[in-house]
Amino acid sequence: MFATMGALGLAPTAQAAARETPFRALSASDFHLTGRAAAKVVIVGGGIAGLTAAYELGKAGYDCTVLEARERTGGRNFTVRGGDTTTDLYGNAQTARFADGQYMNAGPARIPQWMVTLDYCRELGVPIEVFTNVNADAYLYNESAGMTKPERYRTAKADVYGHVSELLAKATDKGALDAELTAEDRERLVDFLKDWGELGDTLTYEGGERRGYTTVPAAAGTPGVPLGDVPTASAVFASGVGRYFSFEFGFDQAMLMFQPVGGMDQIPRALTRAIGARRIRTGAVVSKITDTGSGVTVTYTQGGRTRAVEADYCVAALPPNILAKVPHTLGSGVQGALEAITPSSAAKIGLEYRSRWWELDHRIYGGITETDQDVTHIWHPSYGFHGERGILIGYYNYGSNADSYAKLTPKGREERAVAAGVKIYGAKYRTELASSFSHHWRQTPHLEAAWHSTPGGPDAPRYQPLNEPTGRVHFAGDWLSYTDAWQHGAFTSARRAVTALHARVLAS
Ligand code: PHE
Repeated sequence: MFATMGALGLAPTAQAAARETPFRALSASDFHLTGRAAAKVVIVGGGIAGLTAAYELGKAGYDCTVLEARERTGGRNFTVRGGDTTTDLYGNAQTARFADGQYMNAGPARIPQWMVTLDYCRELGVPIEVFTNVNADAYLYNESAGMTKPERYRTAKADVYGHVSELLAKATDKGALDAELTAEDRERLVDFLKDWGELGDTLTYEGGERRGYTTVPAAAGTPGVPLGDVPTASAVFASGVGRYFSFEFGFDQAMLMFQPVGGMDQIPRALTRAIGARRIRTGAVVSKITDTGSGVTVTYTQGGRTRAVEADYCVAALPPNILAKVPHTLGSGVQGALEAITPSSAAKIGLEYRSRWWELDHRIYGGITETDQDVTHIWHPSYGFHGERGILIGYYNYGSNADSYAKLTPKGREERAVAAGVKIYGAKYRTELASSFSHHWRQTPHLEAAWHSTPGGPDAPRYQPLNEPTGRVHFAGDWLSYTDAWQHGAFTSARRAVTALHARVLAS
């Protein structure tokens, strides 16, 4: 029955389990005494998946050509620095005015420790530093709950944990859990709650130093002035601040997290160097993929001229929504699968400031402020501490919030983002602003998505024409992985594609 469920896609199959063997890098020596030789491969798309395919195939001597429509490699891995220019699909042209040394990661910006992205940083010699994903001193702001000023994470946590602990401890004490727990269990639970919620002897939450201070403790004579009135349980639940706490429990969002020193694009830059720039054609927009039976021909336009690459195999590593628009001979199974996957919106604005007032006035060094405003998340920079200038991410939002900002001019986006930030941080959010740069992935030519939704998951039967090669074309991308919207998905999907391609060449 289990095997049948597997065949229906309802349980892991033996095949799927077999795939979980660790990746073994390809090597030229794999060909020794086989009478076989490395083949020629055309790779469509120079994002992380395409670059990784070229890099890994290159280790075994494959002759790879990468076609990339944009003027830079990296795909959605895009770091914006002063002088960088973009034009979105609405025609908004922008040039970043950021000062030297300042940058924003418009796409991927944080890396969990377990992802292979860090292995590539190690292998490629890309130095990393901590990315602060959670900060007790960052703010929470829920205007719709009646908050008129922001609250520190630490204060919100003290109050939510305090009141939840008090209620559970009292309920336990009154016998509400007698059916579930032994007397010893109950005692241990109450002990835990007293500690977790900083409860007093009567199991009551009365606040404490965890909430923070208006004047911090210092030398003798300065014991510190604790933050004022402790809110009631009812007020704390009404504020809704507790809904932000589970984020940091996520398998992919828990601290510590990392970022490459100097910008996330150090990864595609290092991959590009390792592959060899001569193997990569930028500004090359693919116009047709033809499987001839004995090879693959990819035609593309570059600088107004139409050209073609002929190869033995192809790795198609474009986003599915873009690939679906490219004429091909791969059949309706491939086309239907590509069209089933839908693009999602996300956007960021970088706000460059003349001073790091969030460090000076608010004592916030990195981390994220969570809001119920349409800007959603505000990120403090995890690099350049104590420097002169710095870039805040003034919005990182998704879906309809990202799309409604996209419809504004870059200036209009800045104004709306700043208006939201002023409510939380005060006037300097406007007066210290030097410049801004906004990036909207759904409106970015050649990408048109921040990430994708793959209904049923990447192993659903309808995606088989993408997960198994179709003719001589193999597919790769984060959208074919269980970690969509992470570079890890692109890396592991590319590894899977090159492993299959290499096995096939060795067996041919
Ligand atoms: N990887 C992206 C990020 O960390 C998008 C994402 C968000 C993916 C949340 C999963 C969960 O912002």
